[in-house]
Amino acid sequence: MAPTTSIASMGAHAGREVTLAGWLYNKRDSKKLVFLQIRDGSGICQAVVSRADAGDDAFERAAKLAQECSVRVTGTVVADARSKGGFELHAHKVELVHAPTEEYPISPKEHGVDFLMKRRHLWLRSTKQWATLRVRAAIIRAIREHLDGDGFTCVDAPIFTPSACEGTTTLFKVDYFGEPAFLSQSGQLYMEAAAMALGKVYCFGPAFRAEKSKTRRHLTEFWMVEPEIAYGTMEDSAALAQSLICHVVARVLATCARELEILERDTTGLAKIAAPFPRITYDEAIVTLKAAGHDIEWGGDFGAPDEAVLTAGRTQPLIVTGFPTAIKAFYMKPDPARPEVVLGYDILGPEGAGEIVGGGQRSDDLDHLLAQLAHHELPQQAFEWYLDLRRYGSVPHSGFGIGLERTVAWLCGSPHIRETIPFPRMLEHKEP
Ligand code: 4AD
Ligand code: MG
Repeated sequence: MAPTTSIASMGAHAGREVTLAGWLYNKRDSKKLVFLQIRDGSGICQAVVSRADAGDDAFERAAKLAQECSVRVTGTVVADARSKGGFELHAHKVELVHAPTEEYPISPKEHGVDFLMKRRHLWLRSTKQWATLRVRAAIIRAIREHLDGDGFTCVDAPIFTPSACEGTTTLFKVDYFGEPAFLSQSGQLYMEAAAMALGKVYCFGPAFRAEKSKTRRHLTEFWMVEPEIAYGTMEDSAALAQSLICHVVARVLATCARELEILERDTTGLAKIAAPFPRITYDEAIVTLKAAGHDIEWGGDFGAPDEAVLTAGRTQPLIVTGFPTAIKAFYMKPDPARPEVVLGYDILGPEGAGEIVGGGQRSDDLDHLLAQLAHHELPQQAFEWYLDLRRYGSVPHSGFGIGLERTVAWLCGSPHIRETIPFPRMLEHKEP
């Protein structure tokens, strides 16, 4: 019996007999040959069934296969420079595992996004979605590799939380045995506690925000990596964010060439990504935006059109520093030289990616935090544990959060964030 092998590892079996176990993606046929596009999750391969070699029975069976029927195909692995993976299968045996009970709804022709989103569970089988999820997995691997290799300890943050982290407007409230609780907006506050125990830490988990905005960059459930560094400054945080981004881009370019090709991603810009990234201050950004005719004053937050102007023509990510204290989260440390701005920064990705990183130095002063909680009308009781971090051995510390889906969208060149996560959750979308 021929060994079952994956399409990705077919090359190791050149000239030998193997079985592929997969699904029929597409099919072409003539009188004498049937070309089956077989996908098995690891890749796509063409299996050629010839009437002469396989016999009439196997040939007729192959010719009748419908899209997405599951099949086992056995044949000889043959090097073929014209095929994408470099090999094709000259098949002589085709075993039907399951024939679809109804016609597969997603044909190779174009479908509307609503149609596809309702069938996300099937849409995932299409090549571009496959490629995007593979890049996503490569990014996750690269992130862990970089942080684990740099002395960080992965610490998981809770999902049920008693309080807000990023402001109360986007909290999802849930019933926790009769008491209110909230789905976590960010693991940061917990990472601050963990950093005081383990030094350099990160969490990698889902974050939930009741974002009422329908944009191509917002999900209500997204994944975020949040490193936190005890004794770290704003500069330490920014340096780590840059080295992390460079590592991720390099790993994706090195390991996902095939996926990026399927996505028709022009990688010229990505290949040039290198630290240090250019920087501007918030003050300078406001001057630029006003000159471009945008309706924004000092103290206003950036919208997507503002970010587009700031990053226009740039090939490197852009670091924006010194945001007004008034528009940032309660935990940010004001710049001692100029308390109206914080020691915080955002990183805006090039090519319209938008904000991919937010971070900075944390307030390490008990009195300042008490005043901030009152100012933001946050309940002090719920933050007592967090305040303890400033009561017992408080030290300067810093960190950041990088959004996984925004990073995937940037590297894949995805037009919309909904394609960067297997099952997207958005304002008007929570199924399947
Ligand atoms: O800038 P944000 O809100 O920062 C924080 O949550 C901090 N607590 C992080 C930290 O310092 N530990 O979010 C960080 C990143 C954003 O830059 C963006 O990439 C992503 O998370 N993000 C979203 N991604 C998808 N959909 C949303 N609704 C997002 N909100 C934030
Ligand atoms: Mg932000």
